[in-house]
Amino acid sequence: MFDKDIKRSFEVQMPTTLPSISIVSSYMVENKALLAWVERVALMCQPDRIVWCDGSKEENDRLCTEMVAQGKLLRLNPDKRPNSYLAWSDPTDVARVEDRTFICSKDKESVGPTNNWMEPAVAKEKLVDLFTGSMKGRTMYVVPFSMGPLGSPLSHIGVEITDSPYVVVSMRTMTRMGKGAVESLGREGQFVPCLHSVGMPLQQGQPDVSWPCNRDTKYIVHFPETREIWSYGSGYGGNALLGKKCFALRIASTMGKEEGWLAEHMLIMGVESPEGQKKYFAAAFPSACGKTNLAMLIPPKALKGWKVTTVGDDIAWIKPGKDGRFYAINPESGYFGVAPGTSEKTNPNAIKTMKENCIFTNVALTRDGDVWWEGMTDQEPEELLDWQGKQWKPGCGRPAAHPNARFTVSTTQCPSLDENWDNPQGVPISAFIFGGRRCTTIPLVTEAFSWMHGIYMAATMGSETTAAAEGQLGHVRRDPMAMLPFSGYHMGAYFSHWLKMGDKATKQPKIFCVNWFLKGTKGEFLWPGFGENMRVIKWMFDRIEGKVGAKKEALGWIPTYGDMDFAGLETVSQSDFDKLVKVDKNLWNQELDLHTELFDSLKEQLPQQFYVQQKALKAAIAEGR
Ligand code: OXD
Ligand code: MN
Repeated sequence: MFDKDIKRSFEVQMPTTLPSISIVSSYMVENKALLAWVERVALMCQPDRIVWCDGSKEENDRLCTEMVAQGKLLRLNPDKRPNSYLAWSDPTDVARVEDRTFICSKDKESVGPTNNWMEPAVAKEKLVDLFTGSMKGRTMYVVPFSMGPLGSPLSHIGVEITDSPYVVVSMRTMTRMGKGAVESLGREGQFVPCLHSVGMPLQQGQPDVSWPCNRDTKYIVHFPETREIWSYGSGYGGNALLGKKCFALRIASTMGKEEGWLAEHMLIMGVESPEGQKKYFAAAFPSACGKTNLAMLIPPKALKGWKVTTVGDDIAWIKPGKDGRFYAINPESGYFGVAPGTSEKTNPNAIKTMKENCIFTNVALTRDGDVWWEGMTDQEPEELLDWQGKQWKPGCGRPAAHPNARFTVSTTQCPSLDENWDNPQGVPISAFIFGGRRCTTIPLVTEAFSWMHGIYMAATMGSETTAAAEGQLGHVRRDPMAMLPFSGYHMGAYFSHWLKMGDKATKQPKIFCVNWFLKGTKGEFLWPGFGENMRVIKWMFDRIEGKVGAKKEALGWIPTYGDMDFAGLETVSQSDFDKLVKVDKNLWNQELDLHTELFDSLKEQLPQQFYVQQKALKAAIAEGR
């Protein structure tokens, strides 16, 4: 229960039509639209109480203590993991639910074939039905937040209403959450209303469960025209922390299209040369392709003097600046990273980042009250409680942590945090990097000949869903620019928007495509990846500076062995490298034909230049130039 002394109601400011609901707030709210929306939602959801969150540490600690008492969080051993908690979700609520995610624009055609669509009025009716009484027996939290530094011209305000205290404490880490966002909104400011309920009202006397959610019904719904988000039934990650995928990508991508900017599924990293020259790169990869690892990369010792700094690991908002360059901010202020596979070897900076003040979800619990997940250490612990609280021993046949287990932690704890991560003007972008997960066909790295060529390559990237046979492509799931699940509008129009944005930048960043995941005939990875990716980044840096060579191939500029710095890396020989940068004519003929499948599916809004580019690439491959 809340301490009595924080119960300060502002009767004048607060809605008067909610007589039986106690309202807790420690600050004034003057934004009429916000007050009216909160009142409407409260009348519909019928919570027991309303709490306006201020974002303070006291509030956060109080909520965590309450959740511990209710069995919703477990406090980890403070000697091992100070001020950190573990949550175990319902086994049916463990990831984003793309098949339950909808974009409800008025016009069905405008969302394209890659999004689920519902008529907005139909969706609203359904949702109002579900949300009516959905917070009975629970507290309704009002969570104001800023995506981006408070007051930045690139930032936007959202307000999430949720009945999940886990969401409140996670939003405090992931966004600039609290009173400051309400102040920045002022009397008239606009905000994106984000409504969330776990969809499990409690009847009088009904005990709560440790992870409330609705096992049968989930809806993650976006209304781009009115810039609203309604999320029902899930308490997990991107379904529930609505500032992230729902706002910062799906709604923001439609805002960016209307207003001339880009909301992208991209990390932002700073790269500094031994001479102290700094450039920023923004890089798009599909989920679970190592974006956090790349953003926090530690260069190999042999590349003396090179340094990588982290601006963001998942999302970038990018606007053309007056000087003709693109400027990017990370709209988030925390990492919601995938834990399994993260270790001292793969991402030492992430391990340091999460040493305290961290919420872990669906990882395993060690005997001494710490956390563990697959890949964290070479040696598996002798016994654990797995992510469902069951006894676990090595070889028992079940993973200890769920493969999508997460850590939620503030960016400010990252040892490689960039000095400009919070700069309201953003950082200037020198290059865009696009990567998929392909075991064949796509070379380790290519530099595009032009903006159009780069956008074509980025738009056709993807990942194999079935293995390739010798000389034969596997099935490729296209994930254009890693935005397939996240664009709030038609993918064809999205490509056109990128082409237009290129015209706006008089100093266009270079575009590179990478593939860290090439495999040899025995299924082994051909490229060591992780920190060694710095060698590729260094080549890009030097290309931008005009300091290093490349070979002109049909697909773009590709480094030769001599163009790369392999100091201290004996495991990649010249012949290994040749395999990594090989453009296989046979596979590329198949690949280019397959692009037609994607283009046909998007043809109503696909830029015609794509067909011209495809033809040019086909001719170049045929001629082997
Ligand atoms: C994702 C994520 O799924 O960042 O892309 O969580
Ligand atoms: Mn992501």
